[in-house]
Amino acid sequence: MTETPHGQGPALPLTASTPGTGFTQPGYNFYEVVGGHDTFVKLVDVFYDGVADDPLMRPMYPEEDLGPAKERLLLFLEQYWGGPRTYGEQRGHPRLRMRHMPFQVSPAARDAWLRHMRTAVDALELPPLQEQTLWDYLDRAAHSMVNSA
Ligand code: HEM
Repeated sequence: MTETPHGQGPALPLTASTPGTGFTQPGYNFYEVVGGHDTFVKLVDVFYDGVADDPLMRPMYPEEDLGPAKERLLLFLEQYWGGPRTYGEQRGHPRLRMRHMPFQVSPAARDAWLRHMRTAVDALELPPLQEQTLWDYLDRAAHSMVNSA
């Protein structure tokens, strides 16, 4: 149900609807509340515009075309927040820390990731509570992904 923490902090819940994360009220769906597919497409579009120009991050991506990586992040985030479960159907359990092991996620890479994500979240112009909810998760997830000094 949860990520293997590899000894670094608490495990991330698999989806935001996991009991204990505050999204368990019947009928409440964060994915829909923030605007559904279009909102998440915009988030990853703006984020990957930043990655494409980033001298530290761009070389980390194995494929020439960033499109497939963008699609994987989109599907993951949509599933996490209560949208379609396509990510799981295509990729299985996220195991995000494990999937990032081939890449050197240093504190500097984490900060670059978060900088581009901050720009992307700002571009959504969400109400403060929704923005804070989304950002808190992204910030925590990025800190949990660091795997090298
Ligand atoms: C902290 C800095 C991070 C760096 C430097 C980083 C970098 C990368 C790289 C290089 C890849 C491989 C690209 C590809 O899929 O082809 C990747 C994949 C991915 N990342 Fe990150 N990432 C970071 C944090 C995160 C966070 C916080 C999340 C989720 C909230 C995330 C979600 C994903 C997903 C869903 C994939 C695709 C996994 C799959 O293969 O299915 N990443 N990341």
